[in-house]
Amino acid sequence: MPGTVNGNGDVGMNGNARGNGGAGTGSPEPDVHGESVEARLEKLRDSRVVVTGGAGLVGSRLVRLLRRAEAEVTMLDRLDAYPDAVHSSLFGVDSLGAKLVVGDVCDREVVRRVLAGADYVVHAAAYADVAACTRRPDIAFHANVQGTQVVLEEVAASEVRRLVLVSSAAVYGNGDPSIRGPQVFREDQRLLPVSVYANSKLWAEHQARLLLSGPDTPEYAVLRYFSVYGDPQVPKPGSHSWMVAWLSMQARLGRPMRLNGGGVQVRDLVHVDDVAAATALALVEDGMAGATVNVGTGVPTSVREVGELIAPHFPRAHFVTTPLPEGDPLGGYAATEHCRELLRWRPRIDVRAGVERYVRWLSATPHAVPKWLAAEAAA
Ligand SMILES: NC(=O)c1ccc[n+]([C@@H]2O[C@H](COP(=O)([O-])OP(=O)(O)OC[C@H]3O[C@@H](n4cnc5c(N)ncnc54)[C@H](O)[C@@H]3O)[C@@H](O)[C@H]2O)c1
Repeated sequence: MPGTVNGNGDVGMNGNARGNGGAGTGSPEPDVHGESVEARLEKLRDSRVVVTGGAGLVGSRLVRLLRRAEAEVTMLDRLDAYPDAVHSSLFGVDSLGAKLVVGDVCDREVVRRVLAGADYVVHAAAYADVAACTRRPDIAFHANVQGTQVVLEEVAASEVRRLVLVSSAAVYGNGDPSIRGPQVFREDQRLLPVSVYANSKLWAEHQARLLLSGPDTPEYAVLRYFSVYGDPQVPKPGSHSWMVAWLSMQARLGRPMRLNGGGVQVRDLVHVDDVAAATALALVEDGMAGATVNVGTGVPTSVREVGELIAPHFPRAHFVTTPLPEGDPLGGYAATEHCRELLRWRPRIDVRAGVERYVRWLSATPHAVPKWLAAEAAA
């Protein structure tokens, strides 16, 4: 159904536990141990870091942070996840001060070349949309499985100190079906992925462990991102899983913000700048060697709460409520003990501030509305 936000985004689940903030507009706790992220990232100064998928949403924010830490950065990216103007003008890929290699992570020669002399690698390249992976499992397999295998093999044979593998909370699937309501996802719980995308991410996690656990291999760490949002995120065609971007665009265009079952499903919304900081820290934090850690806030936010934060900014915003499909998962949120203790990271941007930033950015950046979406609205 066009415009519907349902419970089947990147994360799904049921349950009765609450996060540390209760309602989604609660504030995540601030910085850890009094030491700033910037100070801890000084270890990266003059190091050489490769970021696959560096021209994507998360990749480009991460590269910007790594450059601020004075690391030398190379991005390896196919540059085809969005129209060119998104990569260049919205994500600012050309002005990050990093080297861009346009290529495919399946191309072993290119991967070997960019890894030569690298100290650290973040593997973030992926066919990064749940619905698109379901529609095109062949592309998902190429990018997320075959490409990851090439990156892991080449890292294993290199002088790289540590690889950070970007995974997803999608590996938790819908969690425990006996729990009604939103539930918390813990790193050590049983993983029951329910999509092509999630399967590919879980496979990548297992394969990283298999290839990089030897005594002489580079170290690895796995990060399971929850629902990443924040400017300059833009929706992809046929995907409604990025709810802040999706609902904001609907509101701006005067289209209904559709709420299945009144918008009771929850997500753990983590701001892209916080995700970038968590990812950079995972390169240098001692406790992260061999660890798998959630990157989330621990705060569940319902679809309705997000809509209500967005609506006051757009005069034509309105809601339409549709029935909750039977068995639709109610979503979940991150257990945060591991990210606090192993990664020594806490998010700084709560959802109220992050959504506010997003809608202000969207209002100031009207060309961020994708052409296909504006055309749909006009029709
Ligand atoms: N956005 C989220 O909510 C979210 C949640 C969980 C996990 N993740 C993961 O985080 C990572 C970054 O996601 P994002 O939101 O920035 O997505 P994105 O689509 O903005 O970025 C992914 C980048 O990878 C590149 N890419 C894709 N296939 C490639 C290939 N075969 N070779 C080289 N480059 C290729 C794309 O061109 C794109 O620039 C992905 O691994 C994604 O699965 C994202």
